[in-house]
Amino acid sequence: MTDTPLLICGAAFTEDERARLSTAVSSVSVESPAALEGLAPNLRERLRVVAYKGQAPFGAREMAALPGLGLIANFGVGYDAIDLAAATARDIRVTNTPDVLNDDVADMALGLILAQARCLLRGDGWVRSGRWGKYGEMPLARKVSGARAGIVGLGRIGREIADRLAAFKMEIHYHSRQQKETPGWRYHADPVSLAGAVDFLVVALVGGEETRNYVSAEAIAALGPTGVLINISRGTTVDEGALLAALEQRRIAGAGLDVYLDEPAIDPRFQGLDNVVLQPHAGSATAETRRAMAELQLANIRAFLDGEPLPSPVN
Ligand code: 8YV
Repeated sequence: MTDTPLLICGAAFTEDERARLSTAVSSVSVESPAALEGLAPNLRERLRVVAYKGQAPFGAREMAALPGLGLIANFGVGYDAIDLAAATARDIRVTNTPDVLNDDVADMALGLILAQARCLLRGDGWVRSGRWGKYGEMPLARKVSGARAGIVGLGRIGREIADRLAAFKMEIHYHSRQQKETPGWRYHADPVSLAGAVDFLVVALVGGEETRNYVSAEAIAALGPTGVLINISRGTTVDEGALLAALEQRRIAGAGLDVYLDEPAIDPRFQGLDNVVLQPHAGSATAETRRAMAELQLANIRAFLDGEPLPSPVN
């Protein structure tokens, strides 16, 4: 029996995304990697592809439960939830959905900068609550255009962010594995030096063990009392304990965050802070971009099942 090659894995898939996959390829669904072992062994043996969406780890144990697995097609550019070494060791291909989300994630970074510095959420409350009529102008906000921006990780998304910030007449500083051909932008060899040179530090790193706590307590300290930290990458890339302490003690001015260590059950200390703007990991969450990501995930699955080259392989 070879009629059910696809396992749709993850509670995060929307109904539309699920329908798109299951209309194209004969499939079964589970809510999480942990639910895999509950599937009947003869069904597990038939599965050749996993369409994955989520942050829960998909590792060697899950792969071992699927002896015929040949492809894990991730919904998302970041595939840190998937144990790539374990997949490669078993000759399992992994694909992701790069590029199609660069603009949206960069837009979200800009939105967080503006919302944080210009106190947009506070302004909304000021108008709705009638405080405008009662007390007049709100306390003054902070200018963004012309300020100094630092990008940690000048990859595809980091580059889109930097281009947008350059259009805001900002002085662009960056740190990445290699220095880039970007005349006028200042390279820093380490994140601490970068943080010390800028007003807004934007984290656009890939996730995973190599970048865990890359923005360290030292880098957060270097940002200083007027610095703002923006993170649209992964919660793991910033030392979250150090960030919370710095925000609570006002050792940095504020933060704009789309990602956290524990999602969606974030550390409740964040919710008690008035110097942060918080978003629910929504960088790529527009109808247009999520459709493009779903299409790319499906294109990878079709290519694999047809024996064609994979559009966006990561191993
Ligand atoms: C997720 C993301 O794909 O692409 C990524 O790496 O973090 C997001 O776009 C999305 O949250 C679905 O899990």
